Amino acid sequence: MVNINMSMEAFIEQACESIRSEAAGRPVLCALSGGVDSAVCAVIAKRAVGDRLTCIFVDTGFMRKGEGDQVAALFQGAYEINLIRVEAEGRFLAKLKGVTDPELKRKTIGEEFVRVFEEEAKKLGAVGCLLQGTIYPDIMESGGDGYKQVKAHHNVGGMPLNIEFETILEPIRLLYKEEVRECGRALGLPEAYVTRQPFPGPGLAVRCLGELTKPKLDMLREADAIFREEIERAGLHKEIQQYFAILPNIQSVGIRNGARCYEETAVLRAMTTTDFVTADYVRLSYDLIDTVTRRITTEVPGINRIVYDTTPKPPATMEWE
Ligand code: XMP
Repeated sequence: MVNINMSMEAFIEQACESIRSEAAGRPVLCALSGGVDSAVCAVIAKRAVGDRLTCIFVDTGFMRKGEGDQVAALFQGAYEINLIRVEAEGRFLAKLKGVTDPELKRKTIGEEFVRVFEEEAKKLGAVGCLLQGTIYPDIMESGGDGYKQVKAHHNVGGMPLNIEFETILEPIRLLYKEEVRECGRALGLPEAYVTRQPFPGPGLAVRCLGELTKPKLDMLREADAIFREEIERAGLHKEIQQYFAILPNIQSVGIRNGARCYEETAVLRAMTTTDFVTADYVRLSYDLIDTVTRRITTEVPGINRIVYDTTPKPPATMEWE
């Protein structure tokens, strides 16, 4: 924890107090992304302000396979949190038409998120507070707190200035990733949710290089689901902090059903790290890579080539954009 030394229980109590005092009786909106950061924030805020909390889950079309349904089931079901699920895939794709620059992609997505929140907030009436799952590495890498900017995280650097919320609440902004998980456990979040790998706010959009299209995103979603399934089947998910597929927008010649084809490449990336600031690639077995390669190239139409990313961080970042 940055500049604080206290137990997790005490931290949660203090976070609740601070949410209550900053919200000052006003309703609170939470930007639920599906990741552990915003989930932890939502559960803290539910504890702090009860039914004054409303969560908005924006289905951008950049979620992993089945993710929207899983998030809705957990938060509406077990936690009885007011949840608004906004289906916004078409809207995001329209905004991103022709956008290929990674930073512009991130900024466009961040802005559109905020626009969606503002619209939903207006529908709800007066909502002064927006709760966000910003964590300390987001601040460091967005150039806040005296750090040099690496990339604009949509939680921080991509936030447009004409935001209409009066107050931004960031209760876990001083926590590192592992502390967020610890905090989730202390709050009673299911272990499977707490240990789920981090997923960037802009989602698959930063793993699908070049212009975003629905067919490419669907391909990536399927390839990613297969890779994750095989890692989990091999029991490796407990020791690998992040593993996912990327569609680098590279097409190449191959052979399908005896005829020439020209299809997409998928990259597999699996990384171990303690702090997400530096990381190493996992020496996956060739057998596992082989299984994943065969499955993706036969089960996902449009992908004919698989490569494995062996670059540590630095010099590469975890995400490709
Ligand atoms: P990089 O790619 O910078 O990622 O090495 C470090 C960790 O942060 C995650 N990440 C994000 N998380 N919003 C987030 O909440 C974002 O825009 C974002 N970009 C990257 C990444 O998945 C990795 O765990």
